[in-house]
Amino acid sequence: MCGIVGIIGVEEAAPLLLEALRRLEYRGYDSAGIATLVEGRIERRRAAGKLDNLARELAAEPLRGTIGIGHTRWATHGRATRNNAHPHLSGGVAVVHNGIIENFQNLRAELEAAGRRFETDTDTEVVPHLVAQYLASGAEPVEAARRAVGRLEGAFALAMLVTGTQEFLLVARRGSPLAIGYGEGEMYVGSDALALAPLTTRIQYLEEGDFAILDREGARILDAEGRPVERPIIRTALSGAMIGKGNHRHFMEKEIFEQPSVLGDTLRAFADPGDHRISLPELPFALDAVPRLAAVACGTASYACLIAKYWFEGLAGLAVDWDIGSEFRYRAPVLQPGQAGIFVSQSGETADTLAALRYMKERGHPCLAIVNVPESSLAREADSILRTLAGPEIGVASTKAFTTQLATLACLAIGTARVRGRLTPEREAELTRALDEVPARVLQILQQQRLFREIAEELANARDVLYIGRGTSHAVAMEGALKLKEISYIHAEAYAAGELKHGPIALIDETVPVIVVAPRDALFEKTTGNLQEVAARGGRIILFSDAEGCGQLAPYCWRSVALPACDPFVSPILYTIPVQLLAYYTAVSKGTDVDQPRNLAKSVTVE
Ligand code: G6P
Repeated sequence: MCGIVGIIGVEEAAPLLLEALRRLEYRGYDSAGIATLVEGRIERRRAAGKLDNLARELAAEPLRGTIGIGHTRWATHGRATRNNAHPHLSGGVAVVHNGIIENFQNLRAELEAAGRRFETDTDTEVVPHLVAQYLASGAEPVEAARRAVGRLEGAFALAMLVTGTQEFLLVARRGSPLAIGYGEGEMYVGSDALALAPLTTRIQYLEEGDFAILDREGARILDAEGRPVERPIIRTALSGAMIGKGNHRHFMEKEIFEQPSVLGDTLRAFADPGDHRISLPELPFALDAVPRLAAVACGTASYACLIAKYWFEGLAGLAVDWDIGSEFRYRAPVLQPGQAGIFVSQSGETADTLAALRYMKERGHPCLAIVNVPESSLAREADSILRTLAGPEIGVASTKAFTTQLATLACLAIGTARVRGRLTPEREAELTRALDEVPARVLQILQQQRLFREIAEELANARDVLYIGRGTSHAVAMEGALKLKEISYIHAEAYAAGELKHGPIALIDETVPVIVVAPRDALFEKTTGNLQEVAARGGRIILFSDAEGCGQLAPYCWRSVALPACDPFVSPILYTIPVQLLAYYTAVSKGTDVDQPRNLAKSVTVE
């Protein structure tokens, strides 16, 4: 959460900082600001709301200077006002910050007692005050900044500008990611490589505890103990153009429609079409011997883990503890000797997922990450990774990352079942064939977009929506309800279909649409029974099944959408597409901000 960027270069910094912030807006977008150093003085512009407001401020009152820092905020401490927007300033020091400074109250009390006056409600403001205090006591800027950082508790990434004759940027990383970019006579720093993609492809990732001093020639990096260290400079494949919307109205729409292609790319990494066998790279644990798995993630990725639990248990006979990142380490999980962890994340920076991985690693358990960003913290800290090849996902609501996570987990489950002797070659061939067909089937569903748009126009009038399903379809229902809530602001809940009669059925009347996710799998008849219970109470049912299922249940449904028939194993991937389309078109119909829904951020780097 929060995006930070810094530039020390030859051109005017403010326009470049603004452009980089546009590429970081996915991290937060409730206010933004930029500060530059002009003739030894710090100047800043800030604005509440989206980045366009800051752009207007800058157009009205441009900022000069070739060195500067910028920030796009997702509020944690203090409301999203202009006054609370970064950069924060004190005594010739400007700071942008991502993360949370957990001991800010103690530090603030100490600094106020020493006579320093605070202007904001943020945790961040203690940082410029601390640095300014050390400067006032005679410390050199680098020393003052290092001493200040040493006083901070919590997880953070910081970039600082210090007034003076010498020009440099000071940056620090503890818990939140930071990438340094190398240009020609220019140096950059950003929360991720994507922000720096139009400026450079030469990237250096800071490690935990690193502190760096950037001037126009390069970066000097000190590790947590203050020793000079080298970090590898890598070339990223990211390009400036990769985050365009193409012909689509929203990133989310573009990303939904990219799924046939990115699913194909992801699946091909594990199975050649025509070669009906999954091949897996070497993993940090033996699939035939591992006694149990823990599958941990947050948000949408956690539903991928829940579906994986059904796959691993049902197909491979391997028990999986499914956990949400923010709960896992706090519930004293009982881990078996040799138990392995699987951590799933698009960004690879989600604080709770990362903390869960560290929890297991510290206890000596092998950890595998399934990630979309290969340079991310999760990818670097895991014992090994399986990469989803979704490409950059910009829309806050995860779509293609989720289905590629499912594709990867499906391959892993098949490979596990084989080595555990649970799968005949014939069944493995059937399953891989079903997976091979997924991209084409997804395309078929996407071609029905008109139908989803029509249903969405009706759904947009609802106040509450229920989603039900059994087995893996329960997890798809959960994902559907989350998608609808987050982008259309309609209250939605998912229930295991059999659980409806234990309470939620009381909500059902003709104003509450009930979306039934019912592929024709082993539980279809059971789900049918639950659908009829809803129908008997006047519920307005929207059914997702195949043509035969829809034909059979049409009399009970308000709307039904026939999806391609498929092996039930792959149904969670296919049945995710309709719930994405329905949420997307409902949000469009309501006119909400699809790519940047209120209060949310894409990369959640705070607990
Ligand atoms: C945020 C995003 C979700 C995402 C979740 C986990 O809440 O809005 O779309 O599913 O974080 O993110 P990760 O990057 O770990 O998959």
